[in-house]
Amino acid sequence: MALIPFDDRDGFIWYDGKLVPWREAKLHVLSHGLHYGSSVFEGVRVYHGKIFKNTEHNERFHRSAELLDFKIPYTVAELDKACEDAVKANNIVNGYLRPVAWRGSEMMAIAAQQTTIHVAIATWEMPGYFSPEAREKGLKLTVSKWRRPAPDMAPSASKAAGLYMICTMSKHAAERAGFHDALMHDYRGLLAEATGANLFLVINGELHTPTPDCFLDGITRRTVMQLARDLGITVVERHIQPEELKNAQEAFLTGTAAEITPIGSVDDLTFTVGPVTKQLMQTYSELVRK
Ligand SMILES: Cc1ncc(COP(=O)(O)O)c(C=O)c1O
Repeated sequence: MALIPFDDRDGFIWYDGKLVPWREAKLHVLSHGLHYGSSVFEGVRVYHGKIFKNTEHNERFHRSAELLDFKIPYTVAELDKACEDAVKANNIVNGYLRPVAWRGSEMMAIAAQQTTIHVAIATWEMPGYFSPEAREKGLKLTVSKWRRPAPDMAPSASKAAGLYMICTMSKHAAERAGFHDALMHDYRGLLAEATGANLFLVINGELHTPTPDCFLDGITRRTVMQLARDLGITVVERHIQPEELKNAQEAFLTGTAAEITPIGSVDDLTFTVGPVTKQLMQTYSELVRK
């Protein structure tokens, strides 16, 4: 499949307060965000032209930056409006929004207190993250050699670009070995999450999910926990040992991009795409399209 590079498309990108032609949304190679990882981002979905949980994402965007010791120079309300403007300018119907903030070029060293904070918001059509086949049969996952770092070793609650370094390496290794994605343990060896989505297990009709104390507490994760409770399903948030995977009948991932995607296997362990997963997929799909 021919790739359409992301820097060579038609449309408009919201950049530091105004919409600019897509190909002109550039930054300098001497940007602090590029060299030192001082960058945070969001991933948001658009369904039928409406942004799903726009404010929740922009609130997290603000928190992510504060955890990296910088402040986004727009209020959440201004960012909500900027996202709406970007969607409208590009006529997005079913798509993805990518707000990103980074430290600029005024200083090129570890200390960067006087750098300007830049913000851009791009959006594009995106039907699905995983293939329809993977969604039907379940993803093939393998366990990554990389572990999610402890909260006093990295700002793990931030959606910080730097935290994705091990995710990209984990996903590349998994894809090279014929898997769809990687499942990551945490610094204690407990189950954590996949490279871009949270983990749920169905154990004897109950929903179990790892406590997000060293990885992103996904907005989809919290939405799915609430949907499950509304359906009368018991939801248990706790530390989960990798050995407990074999006690699960079903397993799935959640994320803005992944939505709810069933897991078919983790290395040699297999799971069925069963009734709890299917019911939640259906309910989630109805909710986002309301
Ligand atoms: C590492 C990681 N964990 C979890 C998630 C799920 O978060 P959310 O449901 O807020 O998209 C994502 C996706 O944004 C992610 O990149």
